[in-house]
Amino acid sequence: MSTNVILLGPPGAGKGTQAKTLAERTSLSHVASGDLFRAALREGTELGMLAKSYMDRGELVPNEVVINMILERIQAPDCAAGVIFDGFPRTREQAVALANSMARHDNKIDAVLYLSVPNEVLLRRIAGRQTCKTCGATYNIYYFPSHRPGICDACGGKLYQRSDDSMETAQHRLDVYFAQTMPLIEYYQLQGILHEVDGQREITWVTEAMLKALGRYLTTSAHPKE
Ligand code: AP5
Ligand code: MG
Repeated sequence: MSTNVILLGPPGAGKGTQAKTLAERTSLSHVASGDLFRAALREGTELGMLAKSYMDRGELVPNEVVINMILERIQAPDCAAGVIFDGFPRTREQAVALANSMARHDNKIDAVLYLSVPNEVLLRRIAGRQTCKTCGATYNIYYFPSHRPGICDACGGKLYQRSDDSMETAQHRLDVYFAQTMPLIEYYQLQGILHEVDGQREITWVTEAMLKALGRYLTTSAHPKE
């Protein structure tokens, strides 16, 4: 039996930042729909091109495309101990497809960690974000700049700004989140598996709060590493 966790929250809430650390500190695999699309685009695949046309406008990629990609990804051996979902599901249809697929594999979503952050903070976080091309580490020119501008502290890789992080597209991503993804908060609340975490606190505080919320779901194979 594995442990499966969803990180839910608006663009800029810190899902990617936290999922990366949680995966390092547990045996769970980080599965991020946005990262998978960006990787497909770098490889120049048809999926990558298709996703780009939606991502650049801040629109959601069609449900069937995302669902097929994620359900295939989580069958990989590295997901056997469990998954931290980042950016998926984002619509009710995606949530239902995930639940059905899990049930077919005698599995389930154990917990949904909802990162709440006030709207005015989100745009600044998105506009200031820089990501490492090599290791995926995230920085922020306002909150946590790298020591050397444009260079990753962790691996020396080059930092870049995502093409969908312009103010206009970021605002639209937020609108799309409110319309299509926010209803999932109630969906998971009704299932009794939603845990709200204050995403406005410091990054390390948020990580500890998440690990604490996950404590009872982590099986021995997925327990925090020292
Ligand atoms: P995706 O890549 O998932 O982007 P997103 O949901 O818009 O979220 P972000 O990555 O912008 O934010 P985050 O919560 O990960 O924040 P981060 O940790 O980076 O999706 C992109 C696009 O792909 C979508 O628009 C859509 O087109 C498509 N897509 C993806 N999944 C899809 C799906 N399921 N269905 C359909 N389409 C899909 O942090 C942000 C910044 O804040 C960073 O600079 C970070 O350093 C900083 N920060 C983080 N935590 C803190 C903190 N506690 N205090 C201060 N600063 C912080
Ligand atoms: Mg992200």
